[in-house]
Amino acid sequence: MRKVPLSRFLIDEQWQSQALPAELRLLVEVVARAVKAISLNVNKGALAGVLGDAGTGNVQGEAQKKLDVIANEILLEANEWGGHLAAMASEEMEKPHPIPHRMPKGEYLLLFDPLDGSSNIDVNIAVGTIFSVLRCPEGVDPADEKAFLQSGTRQVCAGFAVYGPSTVLVLTVGRGVHSFTLDREVGSFILTREDIRIPEDTKEFAINASNQRFWEPPVQRYVSELIAGKTGPRGKDFNMRWVASMVADVYRILMRGGVFLYPRDTKDPSKPGRLRLLYEANPMAMIVEQAGGAATTGRERILDVVPTALHQRVAVILGSRNEVEVAARHHG
Ligand code: F6P
Ligand code: MN
Repeated sequence: MRKVPLSRFLIDEQWQSQALPAELRLLVEVVARAVKAISLNVNKGALAGVLGDAGTGNVQGEAQKKLDVIANEILLEANEWGGHLAAMASEEMEKPHPIPHRMPKGEYLLLFDPLDGSSNIDVNIAVGTIFSVLRCPEGVDPADEKAFLQSGTRQVCAGFAVYGPSTVLVLTVGRGVHSFTLDREVGSFILTREDIRIPEDTKEFAINASNQRFWEPPVQRYVSELIAGKTGPRGKDFNMRWVASMVADVYRILMRGGVFLYPRDTKDPSKPGRLRLLYEANPMAMIVEQAGGAATTGRERILDVVPTALHQRVAVILGSRNEVEVAARHHG
């Protein structure tokens, strides 16, 4: 098998297809380098003293893990001097982080969830990093969160890493979805799946069923029909999987199909869903659509949602196209 490293793949994208500006290629390289450093920390675990709580909270009132803070710092530090960014925004920071004056600047905005699946850090289950790249609109101060309030259709690149049995990087620059596996000895990401396609049909679903009593009627109906299996209206049995790390659940869906739901519910009426639009739902929706799947809130395409706040939440239903369509139809 011819081994194609990420750098080579990106250069091919830049020169052959003209689809990838050099600046964006270099930005992806910097993010990949940060991902390698995070992977190293995740893998060392207790040996590096990185497990457990940081003793602080983030803007969303969630307790931060040490690794949330470490991963955030690694991404900030690596990208600050890359020269391709105007500003960054993160799940772990209330306000955008503009590139300091003494550093070279570029036209892009980088958003990230530095460590997705935090509840799994201390129990040795896969976690990951999610990121999204936008262009900074002209005439808007990148330190102002307004610069980031763009719908998902404006993303020029989206990706995520899974720190699992192997470290995998999934990437799209708007021309299909590809995945790369980290070769630790060599220290580079190697292309291992090109042009990933999500099967249109599935027999697998993912939802946190402990929230059932809070679900709205369309989701109640949809999931009860899945559980009814062969004897219900769907006429086939479904299996359920829930890792509680979105990165791992979405990676499984990319590999073998499935539908993932974190719907709007009535648990906390101030939150229209659990997942954050700009650095969780949007990048995952772009990746899933680029792989032939679908991503909706139940009521509209996720990528069309017009953001009003940096940390806003949104309902998410994504995965195998035909299954997402059934769930969306139930929403009327
Ligand atoms: O980032 C939010 C997240 O950790 C996702 O990775 C995951 O899908 C979800 O929350 C897990 O939620 P719950 O704790 O309700 O299972
Ligand atoms: Mn997350």
